[in-house]
Amino acid sequence: MSDTTFSPGLAGVIAGETAIACVDQGKLLYRGYAIADLAENTTFEETAHLLLFGNLPNQADLDAFKKKLDSYRPLPKALVDTLRPIPKDVPMMDVLRTGVSMAGHFDPVKDPDALQERAVWLTAQIGGIIAARFRLLNDQEPIEPKAGLSHAAQVLYQAQGEEPDELSAKLLDLTLILYAEHDFNASTFTARVICSTMSDMVSAIVGGIGALKGPLHGGANEAAMEMLEQFKTADEAKAWIADALANKGKIMGFGHRVYKNGDHRATILERELRKLAKQKGQEQWMDIYDAIKDPMVNDKKIYPNVDYPCGLTYYILGLPLDLYTPLFVASRVTGWAAHFIEQAGDNRIYRPLSIYTGAKDTLVPAIENR
Ligand SMILES: CC(C)(COP(=O)(O)OP(=O)(O)OC[C@H]1O[C@@H](n2cnc3c(N)ncnc32)[C@H](O)[C@@H]1OP(=O)(O)O)[C@@H](O)C(=O)NCCC(=O)NCCS
Repeated sequence: MSDTTFSPGLAGVIAGETAIACVDQGKLLYRGYAIADLAENTTFEETAHLLLFGNLPNQADLDAFKKKLDSYRPLPKALVDTLRPIPKDVPMMDVLRTGVSMAGHFDPVKDPDALQERAVWLTAQIGGIIAARFRLLNDQEPIEPKAGLSHAAQVLYQAQGEEPDELSAKLLDLTLILYAEHDFNASTFTARVICSTMSDMVSAIVGGIGALKGPLHGGANEAAMEMLEQFKTADEAKAWIADALANKGKIMGFGHRVYKNGDHRATILERELRKLAKQKGQEQWMDIYDAIKDPMVNDKKIYPNVDYPCGLTYYILGLPLDLYTPLFVASRVTGWAAHFIEQAGDNRIYRPLSIYTGAKDTLVPAIENR
C-alpha cells in the first residue's frame, strides 16, 4: 500500500462524515447552529437535545427531556457502594470511568436499540457519579438529586449540598454548552472506533472518558489552572512564561489541532470570565491570565483554547480543581453519544494501516538459547 499517505496524529486526515458538528470558517457549528448563538440563546439541556435528537426542543420537548433526565439521575446503591472503597488519591477521572462502567451493569433501558434513551440515562447518571465521588472524598454521604434543577445546578447541588447561586449555575451552564461537542476530536473518535466494532454505548463512553482525561485533551482545563495557581502576581507569571517559552515548554490551555487562529469558544468564555472576575473582585487573576496569554498570542501566535478561560472560570466560581475535567465529561457525553448513534446508523469498522518499523525474518531460537 505504498500509495497511502502517512500523517502522524492523523493530522489533516478525513476519517469519516458527520452531520453533528463542524468548524466552518473558524466558527464551531452544532447541527448548523453557531456556537455563539447557542451560547447566547439556549441552555445546556436545549443544546443536548439538539445534539442527541437532531432538533432544538420546543417547550414541551424540553420539559419532557428535563423530566426524563431527572428520572434517570438517582444512582443504584450498588454503584455508590462501589465508589466507597476507592482510595482517596485515585484521580476523579479514573473514578468516573469506573463509575460509568459500573452504571452500565444497571442500565434500565432494556432495548439495545434505544440509543437516544440510553444517552439521556447516561448523561443523567454521570452528573451523579461525579457528585457522589466528590462527597465521599470529603467524608460526606452522597445526596439524592433534586428534581427541577438544571443539569449544571444539579451537579453542583449534589456535590456541594446546596444549590449554586444564579451566576455560578449560568456560567457552568455556558461551559457545558461550549464543551458539548467538537466533531472528530480524540475522545469522540475513540467512542466512534468502539462503536464501529458494534460494541455498546457504555463501552464507548468509558473509552471516551479515558481519552479525554489526558492533559493534551480535556485534562487541559485542570492543567491550565494548576499553572496559573502558582502565581501571586502578573510579574511572576511574565517571568515564568518567558522562561518556559525560551525552553520550548508546552503551555496548557493553548494551541489546537483545528483552530490555528484562535478558538472561538475561548473568546466567548473569556468575555464572561472578565465580567465574573470583576463582579467577584478577583481582577488580579485576569492580570495573571493576560500575562501568560499576551506573549503566547503576540510572540508565538498560539492562541488560548476553551480550556484556558474555563480553568480560571471554574476557579473563580470556587470549584475544586478535581471537578474540572469531570465537568467536561458531564457535557461531552452528549456529543459522544450523538456520534455513537450516527456511527451505528451507517457503520464500517475503523481499521487503519500502519507502517511497520520493526525487524523482519527473525527466527525463533530454542528456549534455552534465549
Ligand atoms: C492541542 C495540541 C495537542 C494540538 O497539537 P498539534 O495539533 O499536534 O499541534 P502541534 O504540536 O503541531 O503545534 C504546532 C507548533 O506549535 C507549538 N505548540 C502547540 N501548542 C503549544 C502549546 N500549548 N505551548 C507551546 N507550544 C505549543 C508546538 O510545539 C509546535 O511547535 P514546533 O512547530 O516548533 O514544533 C497542542 O496545541 C497542545 O499540546 N496544547 C496544550 C494542551 C491543551 O491545551 N490541550 C487542549 C486542547 S483543546
